[in-house]
Amino acid sequence: MASNVAVKSRYPKTRRIRFQFGENDSSGKYFVNDDMVFSHFVAGLSGGFPPGEEAFIRSVRRFADQITDPVLKKRVAGFIGQESMHGQEHRRLNERLIDMGYGIEWFDRDSVIQAQKRFEQRIKDHTHLAMTAAAEHYTAVLAQRVLSSDEVQAIPGEPEVWNLLNWHALEELEHKSVAFDVYRATGGSEARRIAVMATMIALTFPFTLSALAVSVARDPQARRQPVRLAREAYRLFTGPLFKGLMPELAKYLRPGFHPDDIDTSALLERWQAELFGADGALVDHLK
Ligand SMILES: [Fe+2]
Ligand SMILES: [Fe+2]
Repeated sequence: MASNVAVKSRYPKTRRIRFQFGENDSSGKYFVNDDMVFSHFVAGLSGGFPPGEEAFIRSVRRFADQITDPVLKKRVAGFIGQESMHGQEHRRLNERLIDMGYGIEWFDRDSVIQAQKRFEQRIKDHTHLAMTAAAEHYTAVLAQRVLSSDEVQAIPGEPEVWNLLNWHALEELEHKSVAFDVYRATGGSEARRIAVMATMIALTFPFTLSALAVSVARDPQARRQPVRLAREAYRLFTGPLFKGLMPELAKYLRPGFHPDDIDTSALLERWQAELFGADGALVDHLK
């Protein structure tokens, strides 16, 4: 497949970037479309990213000495660099979200991270990496939606938060097959890859719903408005971010699937130019 080769030959690039949250912020606490549920959902995602991405990096590093292909080595370096920057900038946003009253501090609590590390030590190296490869399919599917849907892009929100999300989405597409290719190159089995994804898919909605419910329940302002919450929850889960999500996630379950089977190269090129081209919207954010 020509597009496969084209995507693979490009290394994910670490961009050193800094966002300035709060400068043009007039959106108030519910910074996504003045929607309580959607704002809690985005805050939860942002809260989970830094420790999650550090776990992804650890899973790939477990195979560092087995990666012999020089191209894959460079792609892994790009993946690690990009995920570290994502964690760093999301943490900066998260500090502000915590100040705004979002209960997301627990994601980064030392006891939670230590428990995660103990869990990682109990599972096999390839199971840990399969979890990362599966999670990367989630982020790639979401990123593709965020960047390709005019309806999603039209959701009002603080411009700098949008900049962060678009940058993150772009880089998720740039490195979407790196963990997967490390898994394959080091002999990870199809059976394990598919079983891990099947488990994650089964847990996705219960976990998302309960995390969201806990987050909203800890927000006194939201607790007082159950009808609004129900309406917004319905709108979120039937809206452009979630509608038809399951079949896209389930593509990963097909034996022989590869992330580059979903061709996002044109979308990637468009957004690379839009954000980081000669007149790119985020060129002035680069350090
Ligand atoms: Fe990321
Ligand atoms: Fe990623």
